[in-house]
Amino acid sequence: MKKIIRNGMIATDSEVFTADILIDGEKISAVGTGLVCDDAEIIDATGKYVLPGAVDVHTHMDLDVGFARAIDDFYDGTVAAACGGTTTIVDHMAFGPKDCSLWHQVNEYHRLADGNAVVDYGFHGVFQHVHENTLAEMKEIKEQEGITSFKVYMTYDYMLHDDEILEVLRAAREAGVVITVHCENHGVIQLLRREYVENGCKSAKFHPLSRPARCEAEAVNRMIHLAAMAGFAPLYIVHLSSKEGLHEVQKARAEHHKHLGVETCTQYLLLTDEMYEDPEEGLKAIMSPPLRKDADREELWQALRDGVIDTVATDHCPFHYKAGKAEKQYGKDDFTKCPNGAPGVQERLMLMFSEGFMKGRLTLPQVVRYSSSNPCRMFGLYPQKGSLDPGTDADIVIIDPKSSTVIDKDYIRGASDYSCYEGMELEGRIEHVFLRGEEIVRNSEFLGSRGDGRYIKRGESILVSE
Ligand code: URP
Ligand code: ZN
Repeated sequence: MKKIIRNGMIATDSEVFTADILIDGEKISAVGTGLVCDDAEIIDATGKYVLPGAVDVHTHMDLDVGFARAIDDFYDGTVAAACGGTTTIVDHMAFGPKDCSLWHQVNEYHRLADGNAVVDYGFHGVFQHVHENTLAEMKEIKEQEGITSFKVYMTYDYMLHDDEILEVLRAAREAGVVITVHCENHGVIQLLRREYVENGCKSAKFHPLSRPARCEAEAVNRMIHLAAMAGFAPLYIVHLSSKEGLHEVQKARAEHHKHLGVETCTQYLLLTDEMYEDPEEGLKAIMSPPLRKDADREELWQALRDGVIDTVATDHCPFHYKAGKAEKQYGKDDFTKCPNGAPGVQERLMLMFSEGFMKGRLTLPQVVRYSSSNPCRMFGLYPQKGSLDPGTDADIVIIDPKSSTVIDKDYIRGASDYSCYEGMELEGRIEHVFLRGEEIVRNSEFLGSRGDGRYIKRGESILVSE
């Protein structure tokens, strides 16, 4: 079936121009003015923006954290993604059983996602222990599964120590794999959490105080040096949240540190630690790293304008606030007991469009770059995804800038019973979302089916070669 998206304002990561897009089956077959095709369905996009499907490279669908499980499985979570204009995700795996092979979680994630996801998807692998077997498996999994990035944590139960991280980085450089890393100083966080709890400081507002920005900055700095010591291994810092962390990145950029990618998330651009003031509502925003201050937000936006940060993701990882098992309430009397994470995959693109582009913080090509094309370049999906060039997948979002989107309970399409952005009225509204040429969303109505999403064997990251 052919389709023509007629007369839209097409936004790529370098320009905005008015043209038509011809879709033939799963692919974009032409972009130009006055395109003609007798048997094509016509979608009039006059006055509307036409963007590549957004790509969220940091989600945690169905994440098992031991004492709780993220409530969006690969179906609910990807329906939310689709309704928010995200047509591809790359999901970060949970830790598996102690000492498990890297293959364990790869197989487990296929079991969770295959036949359930409604948008295309890939996985990041995860290191939870370092051994000659796991180092060898990384290369094997890259070759057989197209999983070209693996995560290490500098905090949490299965954190790696510096010597182990160095080993992983060396092996990753050898294998042409990107190491993504959660940067926070574990020892300091453990001490501060213990001290706050012992002193009876257990409400949500102590969560950010127990994970100060310098914990992130120290770990970012350490990680950058470790990557350099491994011969500039390809390194991608996830969810950068603070100006202190950013300053370490800026220093590395000034020194022309090679093979370095950096991500922030919508919550660090738009929310602040004021959310923790209310002991109840504050639970909604318990995530790691925590929300920061206004000054941090401002510097992160500037870093996007300057091209110092490469991508904007979400770290989507929702738990129920009051519904279901109300997992967020586990932290009611002690913030350290609250499962970390919040929803965001549905909100991201429209937040970037409205609060980024429409409010004048970013150009539209910058919105496309940070929400689509750069994530794809970082993780070996480009140009199949993240582009509107002929020959690429027809993953397309059409936004009406004259309409608006209210984030309220009715807006939410995932399993979550809240959004951290509730009450916001965004400029613009998603009218259509296409996944490989199929319309999967029209005016907020999900039209796709369980299992429509396809697993993607990813190629090599730009970080390996550039
Ligand atoms: O709070 C968060 N971010 N939860 C998800 C797991 C992680 O740290 O990435
Ligand atoms: Zn995460």
